[in-house]
Amino acid sequence: MASIPEIFSTMAYGPAPEAVAPVHAWLERHGRRFGLFIGGSWTDPEGETFETLNPATGKPLARLTQAGTADVDRAVRAARAAQPGWWALGGHGRARHLYALARQIQRHSRFFAVLESLDNGKPIRESRDIDVPLVARHFYHHAGWAQLMERELPGRVPVGVIGQIIPWNFPLLMLAWKIAPALAMGNTVVLKPAEFTSLTALRFAELCQEAGLPPGVVNVITGDGRTGEAIVAHPEVNKIAFTGSTEVGRSIRTATAGSGKKLSLELGGKSPFLVFSDADLDSVVEGVVDAIWFNQGQVCCAGSRILAQEGVAERLVAKLKARMETLRVGDPLDKAVDMGAIIAPVQLEKIQGLVRRGQEEGASLWQPSWSCPQEGWFFPPTLFTEVAPAATIAQVEIFGPVVVLMTFRTPVEAVELANNTRYGLAASVWTENINLALDIAPQLKAGTVWVNCTNVFDAASGFGGYRESGFGREGGREGLREYVKWEWEGGEDGGTAERRNGGKRRQAKKISSVAGASSAPSLRSGQALPPIDRTPKLYIGGKQVRPDSGYSLPVLDAAGRRIGEVGQGNRKDIRNAVEAAHKANGWARGTAHNRAQVLYYIAENLAARAGEFGRRLAALMGDTGSAEREVALAIERTFTYAAWADKYDGLVHHTPFRNVTLAMPEPIGAVGVVCPDGWPLLGFVSTVLPLVAMGNTVIAIPSTGAPLAATDLYQVLDTSDLPAGVVNIVTGLRDELAPVLAAHDDVDGLWYFGSREGSAEVERLAAGNMKRTWVDHGRSPDWSDPRQAEGEEFLERATQVKNIWIPYGE
Ligand code: NAI
Repeated sequence: MASIPEIFSTMAYGPAPEAVAPVHAWLERHGRRFGLFIGGSWTDPEGETFETLNPATGKPLARLTQAGTADVDRAVRAARAAQPGWWALGGHGRARHLYALARQIQRHSRFFAVLESLDNGKPIRESRDIDVPLVARHFYHHAGWAQLMERELPGRVPVGVIGQIIPWNFPLLMLAWKIAPALAMGNTVVLKPAEFTSLTALRFAELCQEAGLPPGVVNVITGDGRTGEAIVAHPEVNKIAFTGSTEVGRSIRTATAGSGKKLSLELGGKSPFLVFSDADLDSVVEGVVDAIWFNQGQVCCAGSRILAQEGVAERLVAKLKARMETLRVGDPLDKAVDMGAIIAPVQLEKIQGLVRRGQEEGASLWQPSWSCPQEGWFFPPTLFTEVAPAATIAQVEIFGPVVVLMTFRTPVEAVELANNTRYGLAASVWTENINLALDIAPQLKAGTVWVNCTNVFDAASGFGGYRESGFGREGGREGLREYVKWEWEGGEDGGTAERRNGGKRRQAKKISSVAGASSAPSLRSGQALPPIDRTPKLYIGGKQVRPDSGYSLPVLDAAGRRIGEVGQGNRKDIRNAVEAAHKANGWARGTAHNRAQVLYYIAENLAARAGEFGRRLAALMGDTGSAEREVALAIERTFTYAAWADKYDGLVHHTPFRNVTLAMPEPIGAVGVVCPDGWPLLGFVSTVLPLVAMGNTVIAIPSTGAPLAATDLYQVLDTSDLPAGVVNIVTGLRDELAPVLAAHDDVDGLWYFGSREGSAEVERLAAGNMKRTWVDHGRSPDWSDPRQAEGEEFLERATQVKNIWIPYGE
């Protein structure tokens, strides 16, 4: 007779199905047809409709409405009409509504979990224990932010109407990530769920009605990419928040270029999972299960690349295979199932195609011996070994339960391999050595780094990407910035409003042609000897270099007389400057104290030459009084950033696990700055120095009309211990050079202060490598007003937040 331990190890699982009757009853009550939720009420399901299917059976669940352009317009109008009232409710009023939504979600949590699993195919264990609790947590957390907004975010106001487009992998959770912070900050929303998974959003819309949310604050419209496009294109939408594929993210970046719409993108990933030889391998195996088989691997931050240190790779593979053999794939509503169904045939075919490709490229495939259910769309957990770092399956986001394993020898090699991707969403580091973990984490190009854990999320922690994984954060204090703007920015239209103090703008002389530019000033008889000719060169890698073009541009004084010349930089000069900026990346690794010291030194040297700078500016701009003021302000502003350099700290988030979650602002990298024209010195200092203070390196294009103030400055930089390459200055025609910077794949970010058209072009071209941009749409701020021209906004733009999760306890 078999012993009890034997029975335990051989006994098959019985079915443990979750009851689905309440959800089917709800669908039936709606006649399995749904309209759109606009302005607090439902439209009739008419016009173009489409079916939503159960991925575990392939059978239809309900018929949904494809919202057209007119529907989008009505939804946006409803949101616009509701916005002032919602904001006027005040923080406490909004907090009470968000709190009510959180309570409602908790009350209906089982219903939401079942509906989500039916519509999406994810195991009920996940929707019940992870998705839905996190949804409630998001609303509770942001109820708190609504309550605290006035005190904690003084001077900030809502952006207005937010268009939110979400994917199918975490339908209700992504809804919560989008809606909760938007509402907390006083915005109203038009949300479009993914066409495969709209049902929980529709149930949520009902819940808004039941909870008494004012009509129009939340609008939910269904449809495919066409509806998404119409939301993106609507002129009355002030911001787009998107989660989905990098391709669509890129098209949204291009479509919104120049519109003045705020944009946050949470895109794909190919996240590394680093296993060092001292890691606890049994924990690692469970980590891999959570990293890549959670939600069938359809997770933007899935740990899809295991990088194992050579000494443990073989043992890890053996343990993984044993664990994979015990995973259970099947009915998502079965409480004892680990993996459910793939969302749709198109996704299954994509996974199958990439797996075939992996085999063709010579990688070795392993799958468990059991087979998946025949009905519905399933794919088994899959492990690839002997994978080359450049192989398709090591580079492309598969978005399925497929993981590749590669090996490394040293920590340096591990970091190199980890960063060998265009993405930068997340990473996990597994080691028992905390020093090693905290040495590696900052070196990884990723918005989230999990130490000895993976795929943990919380409303208190920001989440979002580096590089082509997108920009902006969701969650935490850092996530709120996406849904606010500064009060002084004014304007409800998000694009056309002049800044309040725009009247104080100044104009430098326009230079647009090089014809005859290098002819010398004429010498009349009897005149004193001409001054020794001094043409400021470009400043690249700490050296003064001649422009590649061999051309110069004239510099005119306020009366239009030629007072000098500067080099006319071109594409090649920009390339050299970018290279020099990258070489100087040690600047970020130095101490903040050191950066502050260098900035104080710059201020000191600038002050020592204040008279000279004043005279130069007076000649360029024609007004001695304002020139002196500009120099004084530039010195003061340099002090401001010297002061901030070691004070713009991160946060420790209180995530409700046994974790310390460190939110660290990190520099963006090599950042281009197209400086404002009107304030040749102050504009340069105000834009370049916050970046430098935060550890970035800069390629600056100074004012075209009045570049001499900036070129004079490089002598100050030279004498102030600023390392070579931290600031590079390329003079020339701004609107010729800006597109070169915008299209450059090694430029990590770009700030542009210039024309409306130039702003649009920069945003459009930046879609190439999804670099972060900050443009002013021709609404030149008043650089002499510290409220607009210095401080937090600049520091936020100069950094990106990395959240590092470190567990504690045995
Ligand atoms: P997708 O990016 O096409 O869809 C995401 C959302 O955008 C959906 O609501 C969709 O209707 C909408 N959309 C589609 N085209 C649009 C457009 N031109 N303008 C505005 N909105 C638009 O993702 P899809 O097709 O569902 O999946 C394709 C691939 O994208 C997947 O295989 C996966 O690799 C990746 N993906 C990544 C996600 C992530 O979280 N990083 C989420 C979903 C998909």
